[in-house]
Amino acid sequence: MNELKDKVALITGAASGIGRAAALRFAEEGARLVLGDIGAEAGEALAAELRGSGAQALFLRTDVSKPGDAEALVKLATEKFGRLDAAFNNAGISDGPMPPGIVDYPLELWDRMIAVNLSGVFYGLRCQVRAMLANPGGAIVNTASVAGQIGFGGIPGYVAGKHGVIGLTRSVAVEYGAKGIRCNAIAPGFIETPMTAPVFQVPQFRDMTAAQVPAARVGTAEEVANMALWLCSDRSSYANGGVYAVDGGFLAK
Ligand code: NAI
Repeated sequence: MNELKDKVALITGAASGIGRAAALRFAEEGARLVLGDIGAEAGEALAAELRGSGAQALFLRTDVSKPGDAEALVKLATEKFGRLDAAFNNAGISDGPMPPGIVDYPLELWDRMIAVNLSGVFYGLRCQVRAMLANPGGAIVNTASVAGQIGFGGIPGYVAGKHGVIGLTRSVAVEYGAKGIRCNAIAPGFIETPMTAPVFQVPQFRDMTAAQVPAARVGTAEEVANMALWLCSDRSSYANGGVYAVDGGFLAK
């Protein structure tokens, strides 16, 4: 119940899927929450639900691809709660399920994928690290993907952005480890969320996917949220610069 007691934690992409599951889980563990998402209605509703269950939770409409929005979210944490202890940079978009391959990949799609999935993490990290240096110390977790470690055909924007997230994670870990700031990445595999619903709600695609995973099933948002919780808590105090698979063994093959 108290894994994040009194810690101030920021979550992006909090209104849906993995981010939402993390918000619920972090609140159960006593965190004070600052939630950001481009989806204002769902985000506000989640914050109200959390407050209704006794948690302290604030929501701010945030487009992570805008540096000013990333800054405003951190400012909300430091102004309302006095500090920032943990940040889960989780907002992301998919270029799936079946976009064209590299030669036909639309340039606007490339720009959008990099803006949200890679620059969005960079903008967040800059202000989060600044705030954590004042503590000093903190834990940052970035949502990468198995697609940040291996290639997948047809989704070059997603694959490149997620590889970049792992690079940024390692850069922060190396630069700020001595200042007490830990930075780790989570690499989810095939997780059932609104993002993947168009694929996994088709039984044939779901079965085909599960067949590629040693665990023989797709994963849940809660399973990823539990890894984020551990990495944001003091229990992972010597974990820094790592990429933590939550993929049912997919990449072990
Ligand atoms: P989701 O679509 O359920 O949730 C993503 C959230 O991010 C949504 O609430 C959306 O409104 C928000 N968002 C999108 N663009 C934004 C922006 N510019 N600024 C702020 N918020 C924005 O998806 P899911 O599955 O929960 O994804 C969360 C993260 O996990 C993403 O980074 C995704 O790439 C990653 N991931 C998901 C996997 C899966 O199988 N579902 C596998 C590997 C990684």
